[in-house]
Amino acid sequence: MDKLRIRGGRPLEGEVRVSGAKNAALPIMCAALLSAQPLRLSNVPQLMDVRTMAKLLRQMGVAVEPAADGRMALQAARISEPTAAYDLVKTMRASVLVLGPLLARCGQAKVSLPGGCAIGQRPVDQHVKGLQAMGATIAIEHGYMHATAERLRGARIVMDMVTVTGTENLMMAATLAEGTTLLENAAREPEVLDLARCLGAMGARIEGAGSDLIRIQGVASLGGAEHQVMPDRIETGTYLAAATAAGGRVRLVGAAPEALDATLEKLREAGARIGIAAAAIEIEASGRPKPVSVRTAPFPGFATDMQAQFMALASIADGTAVITETIFENRFMHALELRRLGADISIQGNSALVRGVERLQGATVMATDLRASAGLVIAGLVAEGETLVDRIYHLDRGYEALEKKLSALGARIERIS
Ligand code: EPU
Repeated sequence: MDKLRIRGGRPLEGEVRVSGAKNAALPIMCAALLSAQPLRLSNVPQLMDVRTMAKLLRQMGVAVEPAADGRMALQAARISEPTAAYDLVKTMRASVLVLGPLLARCGQAKVSLPGGCAIGQRPVDQHVKGLQAMGATIAIEHGYMHATAERLRGARIVMDMVTVTGTENLMMAATLAEGTTLLENAAREPEVLDLARCLGAMGARIEGAGSDLIRIQGVASLGGAEHQVMPDRIETGTYLAAATAAGGRVRLVGAAPEALDATLEKLREAGARIGIAAAAIEIEASGRPKPVSVRTAPFPGFATDMQAQFMALASIADGTAVITETIFENRFMHALELRRLGADISIQGNSALVRGVERLQGATVMATDLRASAGLVIAGLVAEGETLVDRIYHLDRGYEALEKKLSALGARIERIS
């Protein structure tokens, strides 16, 4: 199993190109199921999760042609098997995003229930409830959701909580439903908006995406389209947090600064100097960061996907910070690993009290999920001596060429087998 070896203590200097957003690419790939015509994407990140989604779609009969330059063509001329089997769904929960499109296009879908997850329970009851409101019959049998519907009907759906993939699943299903669907308490994440833009290019009639009330007027069929996947705001935020922790001067190109307001504000609070140009962000930092408390919330609040990286930052801050996680009930596993590097963190319920220490010391740590791993890499970049991050397959799921990008910034980081 691959590991990352990091020798900490170097500032980061230089330029990095931001990749396309994983959490936009995955639902957008599923949108290809809604049309018999080709969907041509660009800026698709080269990631394990993208490869897993391609495999899942191919199993259903979708032609998926990825290219090395971030282009990908998908065509679901015919869907031979509207099924998402357990062996893939268990490795990637985002697989559940095929449920809405399959049901809308084929009138049936068989999708494995995702099962447990390292960061929280993550049920899919809101996806199911919404599709039922649109007229679907969904039975859970032998670990699978068996969904059928002659034609989905538009409905008013008030979601119990803000769910990103739940909103995306229902929005995709509603594009081919009969009549109008209103999604209330919808997720406002930029990735939802990017998906809506792609669906719009395919001929869907969607208003209000990016707000908490989305109105979808169903159409009889969707066509082909071209779409450029938005930049990854979490990847961007991760490099910005790394630069704030390690110090130095970094320019991120191909970024979407408008999707990063909460993160940028918190990094400024930590003492980083940040400049914004059209699609670039420049950051400069030196010395220990100031302590910054964060509380995760749905967009436009502070992203749960940035929480671990900010805990790493707080670990070396000049003071005490409180990190509160409100989205997932078990997303503090990195805290225990950060402690192995010498961080002073105590956890009470969904809050972590982080007393910044002057320096961390390198050690072997274990990645537990994607963003936890990113937090550990940041800690490794500032720790004295050598840090080995084990189980980096988590990182490969969601960060394109992480060690190459960090090396290009002067970090001493390498992958070892
Ligand atoms: N929830 C329910 N019922 C549902 C759906 C969600 O109770 O039917 C709860 C979840 O358990 C959680 C909260 O609602 O407590 C929010 O979960 P959400 O559904 O928004 O999460 P998700 O859609 O499964 C996406 C991202 C995650 C990101 C979260 C929150 C994708 C593919 N995944 O997950 O990304 O953390 O939104 O912003 O878009 C990551 O990239 O590392 C990652 C985990």
